[in-house]
Amino acid sequence: MTRTLYLLCSAAPPVFDVAHVIENAQSRGWDVCLGLTPTAAHWVSESLDGLAALTGNPVRWQYKLPGEPDVWPAADAVLFAPVTFNSLNAWALGLTDRFVAGIAAEAIGKDIPVVAMPCTNAALAAHPRFDLSLAELRGAGVEVLHGEGGYTPGPPEEDTPAPFPWAVALDAVDRQGSPAAP
Ligand SMILES: Cc1cc2nc3c(=O)[nH]c(=O)nc-3n(C[C@H](O)[C@H](O)[C@H](O)COP(=O)(O)O)c2cc1C
Repeated sequence: MTRTLYLLCSAAPPVFDVAHVIENAQSRGWDVCLGLTPTAAHWVSESLDGLAALTGNPVRWQYKLPGEPDVWPAADAVLFAPVTFNSLNAWALGLTDRFVAGIAAEAIGKDIPVVAMPCTNAALAAHPRFDLSLAELRGAGVEVLHGEGGYTPGPPEEDTPAPFPWAVALDAVDRQGSPAAP
């Protein structure tokens, strides 16, 4: 049985790994639909056609127009990674002017399993809004992989941030999105 994963990415450096992540998810049996923030789409603009060909689904970063058909199959799971400080806070606050924030917000209400892995530096993670957003999303049932068992922020001036643990995120999606999951 093919399961559909909505992979949502915002504008942090791990978005440049997305082709490999898609291939890894596909090897785990997922049909992947890639959604991007407008900034993330700008960052990978030269790869958008290739990413659409790789997934076999349109890459989306904008809402459809009223009356246009849905072009993605229904989701069995959602992975929002990397989630920037900006996108995490917008999602937690319910600010859905961006397509991926709207998808992620609706997924909570539709009881679709959602996993998120924030990517921020330690300075942004120290902002008081960050912990509030984590708590709000966890309280809504989102599995947020931050700190131990997820991504640990490094110092803001670090030239080479720690590797983003994509396999941990995909393992969580496999657990959450399997038909046997509670
Ligand atoms: C080179 C570069 C690296 C960045 N890395 C991060 C990051 O790791 N985490 C983060 O929250 N923002 C990071 N930012 C800032 C975001 O790209 C910026 O806040 C952007 O507006 C986020 O938009 P989005 O959430 O709609 O994708 C980075 C910006 C640049 C130019």
